[in-house]
Parts: sequence; C-alpha cells; structure tokens
Amino acid sequence: MYSKHYIRLVAQQLLIGRSMSTVSGVPSYSRKVRPVSKMRGWQIHSYGSLDEVQYSESLKMPMLTSPNQLLVKITASSVNPIDVAMIKGYGASVLNTLRCSSQIEFPLTVGRDFCGEIVQKGLGVSSRDLDIGDEVWGVVPVHQQGCHADYVVVERYCLSKKPENLRKIDSSAVLYAGLTAWSGLYITGHLGGVLGAISPVGGGRGKKVLVLGSAGGVGTLAVQILLAEGVEVYATCSSDAVESIQNLGVPYVIDYNDPTHVEKLATAGKFDIILDCAGKGTEYATEVPWKFEQYITFNSPVLKNIDDHGFATGMYQNTMSIVRNNVVSANAQKGLVKWGYFVPAPQGVAYLQKLIEKGKLLPVIEKIFSFEQVLEAYARVEAKHLRGKIVIDYN
Ligand SMILES: NC(=O)c1ccc[n+]([C@@H]2O[C@H](COP(=O)([O-])OP(=O)(O)OC[C@H]3O[C@@H](n4cnc5c(N)ncnc54)[C@H](OP(=O)(O)O)[C@@H]3O)[C@@H](O)[C@H]2O)c1
Repeated sequence: MYSKHYIRLVAQQLLIGRSMSTVSGVPSYSRKVRPVSKMRGWQIHSYGSLDEVQYSESLKMPMLTSPNQLLVKITASSVNPIDVAMIKGYGASVLNTLRCSSQIEFPLTVGRDFCGEIVQKGLGVSSRDLDIGDEVWGVVPVHQQGCHADYVVVERYCLSKKPENLRKIDSSAVLYAGLTAWSGLYITGHLGGVLGAISPVGGGRGKKVLVLGSAGGVGTLAVQILLAEGVEVYATCSSDAVESIQNLGVPYVIDYNDPTHVEKLATAGKFDIILDCAGKGTEYATEVPWKFEQYITFNSPVLKNIDDHGFATGMYQNTMSIVRNNVVSANAQKGLVKWGYFVPAPQGVAYLQKLIEKGKLLPVIEKIFSFEQVLEAYARVEAKHLRGKIVIDYN
C-alpha cells in the first residue's frame, strides 16, 4: 500500500513534470532558492483577538495541486484591514463555502498581497510566460490560504512580473488596495465608460470625484489613479494628513475635522463619483447634502450579514439595505448608491502596472515591519488611522 504522503508527492510531480528524485518540499532544481521542507509563518487555529496569532518555523510547505499554480517565495507583503478582520472571524461563513473541500479552514494564514520569486510552477504555465526565478507581484483571493508565511501557492492569474521600476517593498503594497480602488472606479463606477472594466484607460477628463478617506491604503492609490486620468479630485482626510495628500497632487483637500467641511463640499457641485474609502457605508450617502451620480462604498455589509444571520436571511437583509438606500437617495434627487469590492482581475493588475511604469502611481508606506514583528504590524492596522500602507519585509 502506498502512503497518502507518497501519493501526494507523485501527484505533485505529475503536475510539475519532474522525477521523484528531486522532491524535497521546494524542488532542488530551483537555481536561486535553497531547498527547504518547512517554512516560517503566522497562523490562527481559531478566530478571536490578535492573541490567537501564532508564529511557527515548522509549517508545512504549501504544494501545487493544479497545473496552473505556482509556488512563490515571498520577499515582502502588506497588511490590509481584512487580515485583522479575518482573524476575528469576518466572512467565515461565505469564505468556508468558497473553500469547498479543497482547502481547510484552520490553521489559517492571512495576508493578501505580496512580492516574491517563483520557485516552482505547474505544467500549465509556459516558461515563456513566467519562469522559475522571476520576480513577481500578486494577490491571494480571500478564500485561499494567505501569504504571511515564507511561501504561498497561487493560480497563474493572480500574479505577474513585478514592475521593474518599483522596489520589492513597494510592489508588495499595491495590489490588494490598488485593485480595490481600480475595481471601485472602473468595474463598479464605469469611469472608463461601459468598456471601462475591459479596456480601462482614460475616461477621467471632465469628471469630478470625491475620495473619502484619502490618507489610507486604498485612498492614497485611488487619488493617484484619478489624477493620472485627469479627473478633478476632491479628497477628505484628517488634519495631519492634509499636506501629504496635497503633495500627491490633489487640488482640493478637505480636513474632515473642520466642522464646516460638509457645507464646504456641498458648494463643490455634483460629483460624478463619491468613493468611500473611509468605511462610512451606504447610509452616509443620504445623511450628507452632497449631490452625486454614484456613491460607491467599500464598506459592504454583505459578508457580515451572512455571518450574523445565515445565507438566506443575510442575503435578504443585504438586498433590503441596498434597495432602501437607493430609494432614499433617489427621493433626495441623488444618484446610485453601490458597494465596491476588491477584484483580483489581471486587467486591473496590468492597469496599475502601466501607471507605475509611467511614474504616476507609487504606494505611500507608513511603516515597514520585519517578519518577526508581524503581530505589531497587525496591531498597527487594528489601531486604524493609517497613513498609507503597513508592509512586512521578510528578509
Ligand atoms: N469591499 C472590499 O472588497 C474592500 C477591500 C479593501 C478595503 N475595504 C475597506 O475599505 C476601507 C479602506 O481600506 P484601507 O485599506 O484604505 O483602510 P485604511 O488604510 O485603514 O484607511 C482608512 C482611512 O480612512 C481615514 N478615515 C477614517 N474616518 C474618516 C473620515 N470620516 N473621513 C475621511 N477619512 C477618514 C483613516 O484615517 P483617520 O481615521 O485618521 O482619519 C484612514 O486613513 C476600509 O473600510 C476597508 O475595510 C473593502
């Protein structure tokens, strides 16, 4: 009888097309990476506070399970609010359904975007496309094991070669927040017209957009995308961040601690899009007197409602919530109220890469933590009031 371990190794070798003699966790045919069978990583074994997060140097290496996957050795990664939320159990009901039987819930590693080096690839990935040793940047979809560990396995569509003009640290801090901003503006907001999501170029001239929460991870990237597209950008942030947002090139930066800021923005006329990167939610659209064509918030209640009430009741509440807010908005002669989401779309990655290569997009990094300091990095994100991104350097 063959052991399960042996069968898994044979299956893996069939996927990557190598003989059994090379098997040793990470394959020995990688020229640049020392073969190892264990890795460092941060994991939880149950949901709760940050006290649940445990560090280990003997985690099992992730393995390729389909020909279109790649194994990446991570060099840097960022921390996003969803990482801390997932540690506390956010989205567990839906994410477990998405995991199906292919992945187990615990131990769970969080971490959604990264920069790294390819150390192994499936047979379905052509060497002309991506090869071992290539430096890549990528994202991990939310239902898959994350990248706050030395290695991660991802599908081909989730990564590409990193922009040459960007440091590894910076490359690790763009994609989760950047694809959220891009998808909010182009997929949800149709900034580039109806073909915006397919061919997302331009579309900004003559448009006016207000970004709420411009000093955070998503906000700092959203304002740069909008400026690159020639949009007239208005942005809100706290007093201490005003100067840094002005330095990004935003002409109208409004301190939301100023008690007159709501009236000030009301005199700016109608916005084509109000992009809520401050977690204000849908109700806020109807509480303020601002006029808009579209109000897009990334603070969607969808996963939380399903967590709290189950799928049927949760979805019913979600539908009622968005319908109710749109009715109230229409009655106030305002525009559509929508939820925006992170979307791991290759078109979005290509779009962000193009802006970076043109020198029009650069992540704002608040602080870099070492891999040993991951808990401190999570605590910093949990404390909120971020000024750009929190990054982990694995070296
Ligand atoms: N739906 C999705 O798929 C998705 C994906 C990514 C992110 N998100 C959500 O989108 C939001 C932004 O994400 P992020 O990564 O950019 O978070 P972040 O880095 O924590 O940034 C949020 C920023 O908003 C500022 N802020 C808070 N209240 C504000 C207000 N009233 N007006 C203006 N600014 C305010 C915060 O600083 P101060 O408090 O000091 O002002 C901070 O700079 C978060 O709520 C996140 O959970 C959703």
